[in-house]
Amino acid sequence: MNNDLRLGIDSMDEKHDEFLALLSQIQSSSADEFMSLFEEMIQHTKEHFSYEESIMNEHNFYAKGEHFEEHSNLLGEMQYFYDKAKKTPAFGKSYINDYAYEKFQRHIINIDSQLAMFLKERDISL
Ligand SMILES: [Fe+2]
Ligand SMILES: [Fe+2]
Repeated sequence: MNNDLRLGIDSMDEKHDEFLALLSQIQSSSADEFMSLFEEMIQHTKEHFSYEESIMNEHNFYAKGEHFEEHSNLLGEMQYFYDKAKKTPAFGKSYINDYAYEKFQRHIINIDSQLAMFLKERDISL
């Protein structure tokens, strides 16, 4: 993973690495594999987000409202394009090739980084 996306909280970095690996796998997938990999990416994202949400709940993170809302928006959008792609594959392709990376990069840099800093300030390593 690109170094500026690395947060220094190992378990979060690991989820982000897995996401990026899955994304590049979908980007180079055949039409046959596309929908099942897209579904796998949704499943992975659900687990990734609920993992972070459990950390925020456990440590009573001050900005969890905003972070939960961002998760719900990102996941809702991903699901929307997946549903659209069932009828019109080009919608799914465009999301995967042109939007998904930037959306996640922005989330990691602007939102996940706050959580990572909060944990590091408290010497919590996960
Ligand atoms: Fe994350
Ligand atoms: Fe997050």
